[in-house]
Amino acid sequence: MSQIRLPNTTMTNVMSAMTMMVVLILMLQLHEAKAATYIVGDQRGWTIPPYDNYYKTWASKHRVKVNDILVFKFEYGKQNWAWVERHDYNVCNTTAVPVVASKYTIVLRVLTPTTFHFMCSFPGHCSRGQKMSLTVVCA
Ligand SMILES: *[C@@H]1O[C@H](CO)[C@@H](O)[C@H](O)[C@H]1NC(C)=O
Repeated sequence: MSQIRLPNTTMTNVMSAMTMMVVLILMLQLHEAKAATYIVGDQRGWTIPPYDNYYKTWASKHRVKVNDILVFKFEYGKQNWAWVERHDYNVCNTTAVPVVASKYTIVLRVLTPTTFHFMCSFPGHCSRGQKMSLTVVCA
């Protein structure tokens, strides 16, 4: 059985290098833990859901924090995305929606701990459950 002998100085360097690596990995994990990315609706994405409470259930299962990222994936021309006021959300009022995106996947980094209201403003979609109220909590 052979033994590898390292001079003390080299060993110290190796040790400190290893310590550094552990620290860096821990720092990366802390950084990772800071911001999470969620695909709203998971594999289903942003669409007319199979049942009315689908996005309500999704929102209740995810603790979205400030700095987290929300991804709304939808098919161009079949869905859209609107960020609306609470009362318009409640009654599915699609008359005047302040922010509508129809063409692109929405990638949203939430910066405020508040309750957001989203819907699809296509006729009938919101009343069939394509709406989500989401409370974002402090990181
Ligand atoms: C829907 O929104 C429009 C524009 O803001 C408003 O004039 C109308 O009163 C709203 N309707 C309902 C039912 O809230």
